[in-house]
Amino acid sequence: MERVLSGMQPSGRLHLGNLVGALRNWVQLQDRYECFYFVADWHSLTTNYQNPSVIKEYTEDLLINWLSAGLDPERSVIFIQSKVLEHAELHILLSMLTPLGWLERVPSYKEKQEELKDRDLNTYGFLGYPVLQAADILIYRARYVPVGIDQVPHLEVTREIARRFNYLYGEVFPEPEPLLSEFPKVPGVDGRKMSKSYNNAIYLSDPPEVVRQKIITMMTDPARKRRYDPGNPELSPVFQLHRIFSTKEEQEEVARGCRTAGIGCIECKHVLLKNLFKILEPIWEKRRYYSERPELLRGIAEEGSRRARLVAQETMKLVREKMGINQ
Ligand code: TRP
Repeated sequence: MERVLSGMQPSGRLHLGNLVGALRNWVQLQDRYECFYFVADWHSLTTNYQNPSVIKEYTEDLLINWLSAGLDPERSVIFIQSKVLEHAELHILLSMLTPLGWLERVPSYKEKQEELKDRDLNTYGFLGYPVLQAADILIYRARYVPVGIDQVPHLEVTREIARRFNYLYGEVFPEPEPLLSEFPKVPGVDGRKMSKSYNNAIYLSDPPEVVRQKIITMMTDPARKRRYDPGNPELSPVFQLHRIFSTKEEQEEVARGCRTAGIGCIECKHVLLKNLFKILEPIWEKRRYYSERPELLRGIAEEGSRRARLVAQETMKLVREKMGINQ
């Protein structure tokens, strides 16, 4: 089986957008590929080095969410970046051959600095973010990397670094390709893209009552002031969520009901809630299971990191050989 690798930063709770956009895809890839999934805790230090205390908690929560959404530690290697020190060794070696220009022109470099103006991101580590990411990927000689479109420039740097390494020292690294999934953008409760920073997200960790509350108070087509005012489903973010979470028949039914004032907005939201709960209930149940078993969670992360290390060590042996360093 070909190898897939991806990672997420432990930078906060996961929401429905992350589930539909990334995690479900990761779960499906397990059927067809040998998958490596890891928590990029060093990467989150690049922007959070002044306040690292939250990283541990977010790492645990990320692992709980992954397992609850269906990542299977029997089939996939699930691990934590900082538990595989070989990533750091490869990172320093790759940093030697990476031109500064490649890093300075990655769009997220300037964008993130703009966005996080309150933090000092004029650091060596922050500029080197894509080199560390290249090390993460290349050390497993992964073929495919499932990521969002925003990560494509990082993948391009990874490919350039691989090419340069192979050219200088001999063929070691295959050039990885991004796997972009065709997922719909999930709107948040205000109709904008669901995002932590917009405060419009439905989190996997939200209790049922909170999810219900968030949906019931959601905006709909403002033309539907009263129950008998007809509306336009296209103007309602609730309908956008139906598009993702409801069956075709249900979508048609609520759309017709909206246009003819045949159903009320609350009724329409209850159909959506039923479907959201169908997806979330098994996740909540597993979240509860893993949250009550921190030992089990630690065991899974240890075992995954041990398996990852075996592969990483093999690559490093080859890398040292090719470079003639520390053999
Ligand atoms: N940069 C990725 C993100 O923010 C996280 C990441 C780190 C990653 N290392 C990786 C993703 C390696 C894929 C492969 O989403």
